[in-house]
Order: sequence, then structure tokens, then C-alpha cells
Amino acid sequence: MRPQHLVVLPLLALAACSTTETKPPTANLTKEPFGKSKTGELVERYTLRNSKGMEVAILTYGGIVQAIRLPNGPGKTIDVVLGFDTLDGYLGEHPYFGALIGRYGNRIGNAKFTLNGKEYKLAANNNGHSLHGGLKGFDKVVWAPKEIPGEEPALELTYTSKDGEEGYPGDLTTTVRYTLTNANELKLEYNATTDKDTVLNLTNHTYFNLAGAGEGDILGHSIQILADRFTPVDKGLIPTGELKPVAGTPFDFTEPKPIGSRIMQDDPQMVNGKGYDHNYVLNSGGGALALAARVTGPNGVRTMEVLTTQPGVQFYSGNFLDGSNKGKGGHVYNQRYGFCLETQHFPDSPNKPDFPSVVLKPGEKYQSTTVYRFLQ
Ligand code: GLA
Repeated sequence: MRPQHLVVLPLLALAACSTTETKPPTANLTKEPFGKSKTGELVERYTLRNSKGMEVAILTYGGIVQAIRLPNGPGKTIDVVLGFDTLDGYLGEHPYFGALIGRYGNRIGNAKFTLNGKEYKLAANNNGHSLHGGLKGFDKVVWAPKEIPGEEPALELTYTSKDGEEGYPGDLTTTVRYTLTNANELKLEYNATTDKDTVLNLTNHTYFNLAGAGEGDILGHSIQILADRFTPVDKGLIPTGELKPVAGTPFDFTEPKPIGSRIMQDDPQMVNGKGYDHNYVLNSGGGALALAARVTGPNGVRTMEVLTTQPGVQFYSGNFLDGSNKGKGGHVYNQRYGFCLETQHFPDSPNKPDFPSVVLKPGEKYQSTTVYRFLQ
């Protein structure tokens, strides 16, 4: 009897395994070490996966969206965001690939602003103006991660910026929650509080190419932006203060149009931006989550919708990409190989009293949400 049992039991166990566990389920939230920051802090990469086979990789360094892999036929995915395979690329010079931007996304004119009668001076890191938070903005710090497991996995990143950091007032604690939904949406929820009056404009600087990162330029993508007006800029890309109708200009994307169809037109605004690098005044007015833009890849291949609670979106056609960054899989990113839709308050708002306010006070909660939704 005994020898028989010894033989039969393992066989039964094997049979059970082969029927119920042919393929173990993949965890929908995993992490791995991704190197060390310049100051020696550990950087991790989190990967979120949904039930549709979509994956999003996020770094604790700069809150960077390192990859968005979409299902692309049986057993295959396609990565639609520009970036690097290793942390070294992100630690070097690059134009904010995938990064979380703060404290102030976009430009503040002459790198200064006045709040409650006091002047604050910022780093002039862009032609005498301040761009994307200064020399060491939120894109260059290590954020503290918190996993939010669930049917739809999420990662929460928190960073406290000290009073005076990059010239801005107040201890400011920011939390950004990245959720991957089963409707193929990456949802970014931004929250912040301060202990002194301050200004704030958080965004994300992911470069998209719906034909796949590194697969040519984005001029054949078609884009619709739900905005009847935009904020024209001077040569330094600082808004003039005017809200100009897009009608009759190459900035009119109220109906879908290829990005490249009018980008070479001899329009003074196009010359200032070296292409599209402009803030659109969304018709929604901000507040409730609403569709801001819809982009479709060349030959109708996949569509991305951007929804936001913000009043504006910077449409940037990757004009300053110049092939100097060697990206994922050895791809070189030449001019206009990616586009950004940076949901935001308007540039230079701290110096433009007529623009929607970007002031955050103690006791108030900064809240904004942006959703990138992918449709096949
Ligand atoms: C933003 C700006 C652009 C450019 C890029 C980074 O989108 O509006 O002018 O500086 O960042 O290269």
C-alpha cells in the first residue's frame, strides 16, 4: 500500500497543476530597482498592468512615465512614449521626457513674480525666463512611492518641496496618483497643500507617438483640440496676455486636422514657437473633467483622448527635438518625433492677473485630474 501511495499522490498533484495553473496570472503592480539618482537615492520602476494587456511603467525619479505599452495584435505590445531604457538617460540632458513638472509647468516671464507685495526670483533657465520649475524641478527629484493595489492598480508618489526651494515660497507637499484603468486609461490625479501662499502649476511632459516611439515624425497624426482660443506668445514664448480666436489661423484644430498640414505656414505665432508650442484655452473652462484633445495616429492607427479638469493645454509638436538623445531600443528622436499635450493653467499666470489664478493658500487643497485614454 505504502509504495503505491507515494507514487499516486505526486501524480495527482501534477495533474491538478497542469489543469488549473497552466499560466500563472501576472501581478498587476510590480516594482524593480532602476539605479541611483545623482545624490545616491534608490530609484525604482513600477509597472502597472490592466486586464486588457496594457502596461504603464513609472519611475520614482521625476515621476516619469517611462513606457506606455498598448496591446498590438496577439501577444504583442507597442510603446507609444519617448524615453530611455536606463536611468542614465534620464539623469543626463533631455527635454523632460515623461516627466512630472512642478512647481510651475511652462514659463514664468523674466523669472520672477510678485505675491502679496513680495517679489520672488526664480532660476532664469530659458532665455531669461523660468521654465518647468527651474534648475531642479519636480522632474529631477526622487518621489516616495506608495502602492495602491486593486482591480485597477495605482501608484501614489509624494514629494515635499521646502520653503524657498527653486525660489518658491512655502513648504509644499504634492501627491500624484497614477491609476491604470481597465478601459485603457492612465489617470493622473494631482493633489497639493502648502503652509504659505504660493503659486503652483503641475503637469506631465510625456511625448507621444501613436505609431510607436522612434517610428518617424508625428506630422501625419491628426489632432483635434476643443479650444476656440489660444494664448499667443512673444519671441520668448511668454503669453502676450491676449486670448486670441483660433478661427482663420493655423492654430484652429476645432475640427481634426493633420499636425503637419499648416505647421510650415509663415504665421508669426508659428515662427515664435518654431511650430506648435502654445497654450490652448479649453472651451470647458476647467473645473469638471472634460475632453480636451483627441489624436489619431497615421492611417487612422489608434487614438488617444486627453481629458482634464485644467483650463488649458500646451500643444507642443516636439520642435526642439534634434536627434541628440538616443532613446529606447537605440531609437534617435529627431525633430517632431513626438508631441506633448501638457494640461495646465496658462503660462506666466503669476504675472497675468487676468488669467485664472494659480495661487494656493494654506488650508486649501490643489486638485486636478488628467486622463490619457487609448482607443484602438
Ligand atoms: C515645453 C516648452 C517647450 C520646450 C519643451 C522642452 O513644452 O513649452 O518650449 O521647452 O518644454 O524642450
